[in-house]
Amino acid sequence: MALRDGRFENPVSESFGRINPSIHVDRRLFKEDIRGSIAYAGALGKNKIISREEEALIVGGLSEIEKEIEEGGFPFSEEDEDIHMNVERRLFEKIGEAAYKLHTGRSRNEQIVLDEMLYLKKATSELDRSLKATVSAALGAAKGCVEVVVPSYTHLRRAQPASLAHLFLAYCHPLQRARERCSDYWKRLDRMPLGSGAVAGSALGIDRAYLADKLGFSGITENSIDAVSTRDFILEFVWICAEACTTLSRISEDLIILSSEEFGFLRLPDGFCTTSSLMPQKANPDALELVRGKSSRVTAALVSLFTLLKGLPYSYDRDLQEDKEPMFDAADTTLSVLGVVKGIFEGLKVNEERIKLAVEGSGDLIFATDVADWLVRRGIPFREAHRTVGKIVGFAVKEKKGLRELSVGEYRRFCGLFDESVYDLFDYRRSVDSHDVPGGTAFTRVREQIGTLEKALKRGEDLGAGSH
Ligand code: ARG
Repeated sequence: MALRDGRFENPVSESFGRINPSIHVDRRLFKEDIRGSIAYAGALGKNKIISREEEALIVGGLSEIEKEIEEGGFPFSEEDEDIHMNVERRLFEKIGEAAYKLHTGRSRNEQIVLDEMLYLKKATSELDRSLKATVSAALGAAKGCVEVVVPSYTHLRRAQPASLAHLFLAYCHPLQRARERCSDYWKRLDRMPLGSGAVAGSALGIDRAYLADKLGFSGITENSIDAVSTRDFILEFVWICAEACTTLSRISEDLIILSSEEFGFLRLPDGFCTTSSLMPQKANPDALELVRGKSSRVTAALVSLFTLLKGLPYSYDRDLQEDKEPMFDAADTTLSVLGVVKGIFEGLKVNEERIKLAVEGSGDLIFATDVADWLVRRGIPFREAHRTVGKIVGFAVKEKKGLRELSVGEYRRFCGLFDESVYDLFDYRRSVDSHDVPGGTAFTRVREQIGTLEKALKRGEDLGAGSH
């Protein structure tokens, strides 16, 4: 019995039939759909809308269907549009009339929201776990190079000496913040929508608290129109993914640059490189390039969802069927690129020799800010110190000398305060250690950060532990 038989005489037209079904996409939600239906049968039984025998029949049939789908033997049909109708049709084939009672007072409009929320709970907890693993891997890499001094960069130009670990930790923090977003988002996601009906709420007095409890939610949605209309719960998830992928893309860009022949600071693990089909010497960073490339899909998913939602009248509109592909794609892509970045951090090698050459080859100019700070400590206003050191640098460059090669006399030409102690500044470790504020690159501060991150990683159990 097709759903439309009651209302229409004719089947859907062929062209409409090509865009009508979503089963090829939403079949991924079968477990969530069946779980929701089993709980709903319980609520109908509890309210005596169906008998306990019918409830048992429905639950048994649904469990069989779940197994059929898992084992690949389920006869999916495009005619039945989506996962909800496919399951219902199959249930009828298995248990007869009782199957048609399952949908009492329930609409697919709320059913799809429930399925998506259940799916997103699973996906968010996986995302959080995967972020955690990637942060741990980057943190592991950081721990191995606290004392390795590299030039830090701004505008991709050498700036000031810094601990290489400080840079790796800079990759950890935004990913750790993405984890914080996951747990904050969880609070909003944790609201059970069933009982909203098609739009106005259930007319059968369904026990929503019972359903929430059965389905592992800590609360219920508060407005039936809102519940079937909004997809902010998908937008927010995809936003977390898009932000994380943008961060991963920037990290990838850094690792590509720092492992290039020109820099040579890092070596990527072989398993994440490819060679050229033409040039046998090449070790190309394809894995990182793909992380960078795939991040654009996730941003695209976010944009496509915003575009889908803008201008939709309240409440449910069929446009909303298009929300699933971007949702799945964002989740799948983010999880897979996180795995790649994790693997790369685990196998990353640091080339200390090349780093030393780069630091020492910077002609001491990398200490210019230290010289300006030296003047400031002797009472010179910073802007003036900056100008004075700028002139000294200009002079050194013209003379083809490093800062440590200028004589005290030459320094004094620019400022009478200079004395021998200025040469103490030209020491990379001292420069790093002078940035001794919380969050600075001084070695002790970097170790402090490692400790804080390690503690944050240990804290708390998995998101949704016990609720699914
Ligand atoms: N397949 C639909 C979707 O994903 C389910 C809800 C359909 N509701 C409706 N009234 N046609 O949005």
